[in-house]
Amino acid sequence: MSGADEAITGAEAIVLVALLVLGITILAYTIRTGVPPMPTSPGTRAVMLRLLPPQIDGVIYDLGSGWGGLSLAIAKRYPRNPVVGIELSPIPWLFARARLAIWRQPNLTYRRADLLNERLYDAGAILCYLMPRVMQKLAPKLDDELRPGTVVVAYSFAVNHWRPDTVAVEAESGPAPVYRYIVGDPGR
Ligand SMILES: C[S@@+](CC[C@H](N)C(=O)[O-])C[C@H]1O[C@@H](n2cnc3c(N)ncnc32)[C@H](O)[C@@H]1O
Repeated sequence: MSGADEAITGAEAIVLVALLVLGITILAYTIRTGVPPMPTSPGTRAVMLRLLPPQIDGVIYDLGSGWGGLSLAIAKRYPRNPVVGIELSPIPWLFARARLAIWRQPNLTYRRADLLNERLYDAGAILCYLMPRVMQKLAPKLDDELRPGTVVVAYSFAVNHWRPDTVAVEAESGPAPVYRYIVGDPGR
C-alpha cells in the first residue's frame, strides 16, 4: 500500500475533527454534571410511563432529558400537559431540539439549563434518571418546591430519605428498579 492510499482526505479530516469535538464536549459535560447522557431503554420508559397516573395536573419535567427520547414519549402520552426536558449538556440538548424541529410535538420544550437551578413549583410530575450525587442535591429542592400530589418517578437511583409507594423491578425495565413517590403521601 502506498503513502497516497493511506493519507486521509480533507473531507475525512473534517469529519474526524467534528467527531472529536463532539466526543470531547460530551465527555466534558459528563465530568461537569457527573452523569453521562445515557438514554433509558424503551422497556424502562414503558415502566416509567406505566407508573404515572392517567391524569396529571401541571407541568411534567424530565430532569436531565439527555437526547430527549423519554421526554418525547411522555409528551405523546400526555398531549394536554406541558412537558419540559431540562438538559445542561449541549450536544444531547441540540440533538433533542433538532429532532423536535423536524417531528413537532407542540406540548414539548427542551430547556438548556442546570436542573438544580430551575423552579419546579408548577410540576405535576417529575421523571429522572440521574446519579446518586445529583439525586442527593436534588432531594432538598424537591422537598421545598413540589406541591402535594406531585408524582416523582426515578429510574435506578432513589430520592434520598423518601420512601417510595412503588418499586418496580421488572425484566422489561432492565436490572435497576424504578421508584415512584407521591408528594404528601404519609409513607414518603
Ligand atoms: C442518564 S441521562 C437520562 C436521559 C433521559 N432522561 C432518559 O431517561 O432517557 C441523564 C442526563 O442528565 C443530565 N444532567 C445531569 N446533571 C444535570 C444538571 N445538573 N442539569 C441539567 N442536566 C443534567 C446529563 O447531562 C444527562 O444527559
